[in-house]
This record gives sequence, structure tokens and C-alpha cells, in this order.
Amino acid sequence: MEKENNYRLLSQQVESLIEGEHNLTGQLANVAALLHETMGWWWTGFYLVKDGLLQLGPFQGPVACYNIKRGRGVCGTAWDEDRTVVVPDVEQFPGHIACSSESRSEIVVPLHDADGNVVGVLDIDSRELATFDDVDARALEEIARVITRCVDWND
Ligand code: SME
Repeated sequence: MEKENNYRLLSQQVESLIEGEHNLTGQLANVAALLHETMGWWWTGFYLVKDGLLQLGPFQGPVACYNIKRGRGVCGTAWDEDRTVVVPDVEQFPGHIACSSESRSEIVVPLHDADGNVVGVLDIDSRELATFDDVDARALEEIARVITRCVDWND
């Protein structure tokens, strides 16, 4: 239960950090910073759908690749299939895109606009195997809903 409770608090912090602002880049950058600093992950950030690709958005961590095609890698799969993808061991995921050779496990959560279209993904990498489970998936999906409530994707 401790993990659930920590996530509940984190979700409230995300909401108070970004509600009422009108600066998409700033809001997503602050969410990435809050999640990354609080949870100690290796890479925490956003890819946003633009011109038919997932394009690199605000993030915290080592440098990352700019563009990901639909259906490619973990991010492109989460986008294409509109579902959260939990990868306990990135070496076992066919087509995984290794932005950092240090990444061992990963979770990618789709982000939606108010009409339910996928507009991007929240991508999180860990340097340890099997960091993410169902509790992380459900909690990060809730955080994704908070983001959708608080941002204007056209800002
Ligand atoms: N590993 C991801 C690419 C993005 S980096 O992890 C930041 C993927 O396979 O989609």
C-alpha cells in the first residue's frame, strides 16, 4: 500500500504544479522534473505526436533520440496500440530503441486529448530490471489523466 499512497500524493502534487498554467512545454517539463526527482528514475519524459511521428518533448535524464515511428520501440507500440506497455527487461522487447545503454526496464503510458486521441506518451526508464509493475501502470495512467485535465495540447 505504501507505493499506492506515495503515488496518490505524487498525483496531487502534479495537479497543483500544473493546474491553471497555459504553457505546455513548461508544464510537461515541470512534471518530468517532479517525477524524476521524486522517484529517482534514469530517464523521465515525454514524446509528443507531431507530423506523424513521436517527437522528443520535455524530459529529465541523458540525451535521447528525437523521432520514433508509429509501432516502433516501446514508445511507438504504446502509441500504436493505445495501451500502457510495461517492459521488465528491455533486451527481451523486440525492437526496443536503446537511447541509453544503461536502461534495463521501461514503462510507457499513452497521453490523450479530451476526445481520447493519443497525443503523446510518458516514457520512463530505469537502470534496474523489473522496476515497473501494475501499480506503477495504474498510478501513471492516473497521472496521465491529471495532465490531460490540466494542459491545452495546442499551447
Ligand atoms: N526506449 C524507448 C525510446 C525512448 S528512450 O527510452 C528515452 C523505446 O523503445 O521506445
